[in-house]
Amino acid sequence: MATGTEPSPLTGDSTGVHDASRAAIGPRHLRTDRWWLAPAVTAAGLLAFVVYSTWRAFANADYYHAPYVSPFYSPCLADNCAAMRHGPNADVFGSWWGLSPALLILIFPLGFRLTCYYYRKAYYRGFWASPPACAVAEPHKKYSGETRFPLVLQNVHRYFFYFAVVVAGILTYDTALSFRDEHYRWGHMGLGSLLFLINIALIWTYTLSCHSCRHIIGGRLRHFSKHPVRYRLWGWVGKLNERHMLLAWASLISVALADFYVYLLSTGAFDDPRFF
Ligand code: FES
Repeated sequence: MATGTEPSPLTGDSTGVHDASRAAIGPRHLRTDRWWLAPAVTAAGLLAFVVYSTWRAFANADYYHAPYVSPFYSPCLADNCAAMRHGPNADVFGSWWGLSPALLILIFPLGFRLTCYYYRKAYYRGFWASPPACAVAEPHKKYSGETRFPLVLQNVHRYFFYFAVVVAGILTYDTALSFRDEHYRWGHMGLGSLLFLINIALIWTYTLSCHSCRHIIGGRLRHFSKHPVRYRLWGWVGKLNERHMLLAWASLISVALADFYVYLLSTGAFDDPRFF
């Protein structure tokens, strides 16, 4: 029973599991299953994506092959972008910008994912072991949660959500443009168009399954009965929200695959098979 004198986990005095008031259990945990597998696989998957996306973002090459532009480089905001003729591009950053155009735009999808509730859990467990798994004590002596700097900044997630919607809209436009041929005539569909279609479906379902989106749609209401449309939308978004982890991974893989496909076409390693 709480006496009111124990150090609070949220004040950073103790993680609770190292607290003197806890039962004196010798082992670090009592789990007998392979509890380390999930955080290990998560860490490996996230690390692979970080390595791949860093390489591609700094490559500043092989991100456009008509009619496809890599999602890592869209929208192109710099004069030096190879896809300036493609579609939703703006020469916001003039010729003075000499670095990769991807660096101008990746901050938004990256910020959205880094602050995502699911990814937070994933990398806290996978990389910081905080905690590594349910009922397994973390190695850290103190815990201040997300109530202090720098982790309190995770609260910007709801704002990244708005940017993510804009980026998803632009990628939708890119997907529509992928149904043109290399001469910008409509009526083309290649394997790339199909990959882009799958990717944008996953990007949208991941974005709409966001906890912030669910709150924006259904939060701050006293009576759902007086807001039937919002209630209906909230129900749909709630169904997606149940699959948020799955959609987070599926969209992460699909966006990397879409980029890699453009890379293969652009380097001449592969020809885009055409359906019509
Ligand atoms: S909670 Fe995961 S994207 Fe918002």
